[in-house]
Parts: sequence; C-alpha cells; structure tokens
Amino acid sequence: MIKENQDLQPFNTFGISVKADLFSSFDSVETLDRLIKNSNGLPLLILGGGSNVLFTRDYHGLVLKNEIKGFDIISENNDSVIVRAGAGEIWHEFVLKCIDKGFGGIENLSLIPGSVGASPMQNIGAYGVEIKDVFHSLSAYHLATGEIHTFDKSQCEFGYRESVFKRKLQGKYVIIDVSFELSKNPKINSSYGAIENELKAIGISSPSIKDISNAVTAIRSSKLPDPKKIGNAGSFFKNPVVEKEVADSILKDYPNAPVYPADNGKRKLAAGWLIEQAGWKGKTLENYGVHKLQALVLVNYGGATGQEVLDLSTSIIADIKSKFGVDLESEVNIL
Ligand code: FAD
Ligand code: EPU
Repeated sequence: MIKENQDLQPFNTFGISVKADLFSSFDSVETLDRLIKNSNGLPLLILGGGSNVLFTRDYHGLVLKNEIKGFDIISENNDSVIVRAGAGEIWHEFVLKCIDKGFGGIENLSLIPGSVGASPMQNIGAYGVEIKDVFHSLSAYHLATGEIHTFDKSQCEFGYRESVFKRKLQGKYVIIDVSFELSKNPKINSSYGAIENELKAIGISSPSIKDISNAVTAIRSSKLPDPKKIGNAGSFFKNPVVEKEVADSILKDYPNAPVYPADNGKRKLAAGWLIEQAGWKGKTLENYGVHKLQALVLVNYGGATGQEVLDLSTSIIADIKSKFGVDLESEVNIL
C-alpha cells in the first residue's frame, strides 16, 4: 500500500523527521516491479534500515523500503558453503544465524546496523574484515528495464567503503539478494588490537566464531551510540587515505598518531583521531553534536534537522583541512 506524506523519522537511525511524498515497502520482486512500473518516472529512493543516510529535506518522490526476506544454502562442500540472503534481512540477524550454523567469515561484522541488501553498497567493514572478503555474488533489479542482473565480485568494484553501486551505477539498481561464501572450518581473525584485548580481558585464548562475535559486540557497545537511544549513522566520515608525505608530516608533530598502510604506498589516517585532536569530540550544539566517546560519529539527541547536522559536518571538514591539510569525505549518504 502506498502512503502519502509519510514521516521518515522511524525509518532512519539519525531520527531526522522529514516527509516523503510517497512511501511503500515491498517484500517481493513482483511487488517491486509493480511499484516501479506505476511510479510514472518519479524520483525513487530505496531504503533498507536507514542507518547510513542523513535526510536534509523532504523527499519529493517515492521511497521504497526493502523487506525481501530469505535464507538459502545454494551449494556446499566439506570446507565451504554459499549462503544467499534476501536484501531485506537484518544484517546482524543474518550474521547470528550463520554463526549458529557454524559458518564463519562475517563474525567480525557483528552488530553493524542495517540490511543485507545495503551491505555491498559501501562494502561494509569492521575489525579487520570487509564483505568483499566473503562476497560471492548478488542479484539486482535493473530499474530501467525491470530485468534481474547478477553481479560477481569483480563487477561490484569494491573498495574501502565503495562499490560500483555508489559510483557509476548509482541509482540504477535495487539489490534483491546477496550471496556469501562462508567457511565450515573458520579461520579466526582476531588481528584487530581491540579484539585481542577484549578476548584477553575475558580470559579466552582459543576463540570460536561466537566468541569473536561477542567480543566485537562488547567493543562496539562500549563506544558507539545505540541508535535506539541516540540518533546517529555510525562513522559520519571515511578515514582519509593520503599520500605518505602527508602522514609523515602529521607523525612529525604527533608521533603517536594512528596511521595505517593503504594501497599504492598511501596511508590511511584515523578521522576520529584528527577530529578529536581538533577539539570537536563531545562538542554539543543544542540538540546535536559530536559523540563524546567516538569523534567520528555525529549525533542527534532529538529534534535536530538534517541541515544542522550537515552544517556541523561542513565546519568539521573545514577545520580539519585548515589544521592538518587533510580532506575529510562523508561516509553517510546525504539526501
Ligand atoms: P540504508 O541507510 O537504508 O541505505 C544506504 C544506502 O544504500 C542508500 O543510498 C540507499 O538508497 C542504498 N540502498 C539500501 N538498500 C539498497 C538496496 N537493496 N538496493 C539498492 N540500494 C540500496 N558501516 C560499516 O561499514 N561498518 C561499521 O562498523 C558500521 N557501524 C555502524 C554503527 C552504527 C551505530 C550505525 C548507525 C551505522 C554503522 N554503519 C557501519 C553504517 C551502516 O550500518 C551500513 O552502511 C549499512 O550497510 C547500511 O544499511 P542500511 O540497510 O541501513 O542502508
Ligand atoms: N580515535 C581517536 N579518537 C576518537 C575515535 C578514534 O583517537 O574519538 C582513534 C582510536 O584510538 C584508534 C583509531 O582512531 O587509534 C581508530 O579508531 P577505531 O578503532 O574506533 O575505528 P575508526 O577508524 O574510528 C572504523 C570504521 C568503523 C568500524 C571501526 C572498527 C570507518 C569510517 N569507520 O572506525 O565503521 O566499526 O573502524 O573496524 O572506516 C562505520 O563505517 O559507520 C563504522 C562505524
């Protein structure tokens, strides 16, 4: 059923109140196809869990919330299994289901909010793993023709918080299911310092995938705000990838600055560290601000507008540029 003038506040984790001219959910490709064919060329926005968007204005078009469910084992052998999940499945519930079945590979991605269908959009990542590491393929509805197209890993052009769907195919497809190749003999990845420390603290020396999931859940809960209590969309900015010389000049002034190796001899800086050094951590402007435990997360304490949050992000970008000569880029999709 199509609703008119729908408040989108319940449908975005920033908790921003804007109106969509038209709104409907869909739980099958057939319903999606019907909605698209009757949409008369209106602007379209596909929403999953709304955990990576910032609405700055009312949406004059049709918002379609993906609720396509499904969990199927496509093929398996002694070592691995290919699991296909409907795009409207909740990501964390999917992770837990795989762990229960003993399928390893996505336990480090526990507790990331949102839907399975959005996971390839920005190649979600956390604690040393990105979905590209376990991605097999996806099916997507082509808006222009109504055809279903399959994409393998190379066609998705995954990068750090990037995919072809955020670049040249932006707005052209609706992802309807995603398949992952998971391991029946999982290799534990506890290389991320915080996981090692958490496991040590709880006295676990040979962790299972469930232990890793629990450790990641504990770490995330200790510093990231729960969107049910404080509006946010996770990291607002990407960690900037810069030339080695830029990182070296920061290290000269701040020898303990976190700097990680990146592709092509470049370096990745921690945006949260830069923002904290610049004095923004915990800054509150009326009912929104910078989270006090994680400077990379902008928050809405209730009633802020998307434009206010966007203006705050613009001020942070300008300040980091002037203090460190580094360009920050939004990770969140600004609408
Ligand atoms: P939405 O916000 O609904 O959509 C995001 C974008 O994808 C929009 O442009 C939308 O149009 C498009 N889209 C969504 N579904 C589809 C589809 N089926 N087909 C086509 N386009 C689609 N991200 C990380 O990578 N790592 C983290 O550790 C992480 N931690 C987070 C912690 C918190 C507290 C929060 C609030 C967010 C965090 N995020 C993280 C960001 C977010 O959870 C992910 O980007 C997630 O994949 C977004 O899923 P979603 O369903 O909510 O997408
Ligand atoms: N740091 C600070 N101050 C802060 C925040 C971080 O100094 O306020 C420092 C930390 O001490 C650490 C470094 O920055 O040395 C990195 O911090 P952290 O491990 O918390 O990770 P992050 O770089 O801030 C990234 C992702 C997260 C992901 C975590 C864990 C991006 C943009 N963010 O955050 O993803 O969960 O690593 O892997 O890459 C998201 O994308 O929404 C998200 C939450």
